[in-house]
Amino acid sequence: MKRALGLSVATSAALLLDGVLAAAATSGRFNVLAMNVAGLPAILQGNGVPGDKATNAGLIGSKFTQYGYDAIHVQEDFNYHAYLYATDNHTYRTATSGGVPFGDGLNTLSKYDWVNFRRIKWDQCSIGSGDCLTPKGFTFMRLALSRSSDNTTAVYVDLYNIHTDAGVEAGDITARQANINQVAAYIAAWSTGNAVVVFGDTNSRYSRTDDTAVRSLLASGFTDPWVQLQRGGVVPTAENLCANPSTVHTCETVDKIFYRSSPLVTLSATEFRYESTRFLQANGSILSDHNPIYADFIWSAGASLRQSAFFGGDYGAWFSDAPTLASKTSTTGKPKPATLTFRGASRLDSVGLMLTDGTTLTHGGTSGTAASLALGASEYWVEARLCKGEKDGKTRIFYIRAATSSGRALAAGTATASCATFVAPGGWHIVGFVGQAGDEVDQLAFVYAPK
Ligand SMILES: *[C@@H]1O[C@H](CO)[C@@H](O)[C@H](O)[C@H]1NC(C)=O
Ligand SMILES: *[C@@H]1O[C@H](CO)[C@@H](O)[C@H](O)[C@H]1NC(C)=O
Ligand SMILES: *[C@@H]1O[C@H](CO)[C@@H](O)[C@H](O)[C@H]1NC(C)=O
Repeated sequence: MKRALGLSVATSAALLLDGVLAAAATSGRFNVLAMNVAGLPAILQGNGVPGDKATNAGLIGSKFTQYGYDAIHVQEDFNYHAYLYATDNHTYRTATSGGVPFGDGLNTLSKYDWVNFRRIKWDQCSIGSGDCLTPKGFTFMRLALSRSSDNTTAVYVDLYNIHTDAGVEAGDITARQANINQVAAYIAAWSTGNAVVVFGDTNSRYSRTDDTAVRSLLASGFTDPWVQLQRGGVVPTAENLCANPSTVHTCETVDKIFYRSSPLVTLSATEFRYESTRFLQANGSILSDHNPIYADFIWSAGASLRQSAFFGGDYGAWFSDAPTLASKTSTTGKPKPATLTFRGASRLDSVGLMLTDGTTLTHGGTSGTAASLALGASEYWVEARLCKGEKDGKTRIFYIRAATSSGRALAAGTATASCATFVAPGGWHIVGFVGQAGDEVDQLAFVYAPK
């Protein structure tokens, strides 16, 4: 009897704990570190760093473990990668793309998991400074800063790790600007509507005034926390190079961080610093020829728009209703669907809705059979069920079922055994979509707004 009671107390404690863990946080702190780890083969490039490169990589990894950064971007993580990962203990880490001449040297080590990780090669490189020896480029991922255990609510930030063309010859400056333009175009295509943090080795400095690469990122709506917090918001034109290790934080290096918010999450940098004195050998010698850079952010989920976790496969083109919906949350009142329209047959062809102001939000193709449901004035879309499956070796969405606050439903496609249900948080309802689609719907998350 006593024992049974003990068990039941333990069980309810566990359930309570699950209940606490189940809710996604709606605000928090988030820090990032970028470090060029000087991991080219020693025979090609000593980087002017004393000691043995394998030993130094192991030391760098042990500092990552010791200081527990939330998300780390490394560059030049080529031939000593195994030593770096052997001493690091981050839960989520990208697999190496290889040493020189196969890899891009880019990796992410994170406390948070992600979806849609990709490596993208630069279209342009400059022979002059040896940038064409190995396929350099950038990486992309959607990092889940917060995700409820049932995936009903989530907060994502898109991370870009970059290592642009090095050198100062005319060909390098041209290639570098082309690299940054390529990242900016990718962000425009794949991160529309999303918060973004770009951090890595830009090989560029504001004070090298003919080198416009980094300035063009500021012009496209990004904030550099170093400019913001260490330079009083003024982009420097006079050269003020950092020593290594740097003990001041106002000097300039080529390693940089850029960030922007979205209607779904606000990011605000609270600190920028060089982490140099934490990354030294026991006798005080440097571990890399680059100062590591650090920024700390406060994040908060949108007050007017939030989203669920993603479901489905990483295919099709990115779309987001967040910018359109954000334009309707201010003066004209709150967005509310008037009609839902889905198209489906053996799989899900498209999802769509019309807002009460007549705006239509539709994603996917035109095949399948259309089905619509008109919502009453006080009827809300509060729950969605999705099922996925494999078609031609690719994961796609096969089925959707919407349920309203009046207990009515609309379904399209064909249910499978692999499904998930997304319930709008109390006081919120589903007003749109983010995800990826082509002829059919590949990946989907739901956008919520307060009722
Ligand atoms: C520190 O140790 C490394 C290798 O163990 C050595 O190469 C370097 O010269 C030493 N630095 C100093 C300042 O003594
Ligand atoms: C990694 O190691 C640090 C320092 O020992 C520890 O605080 C942290 O919990 C560890 N992280 C993981 C994921 O094991
Ligand atoms: C939530 O989504 C993640 C992928 O983002 C997946 O691994 C996990 O199984 C999902 N959890 C549930 C309860 O569906």
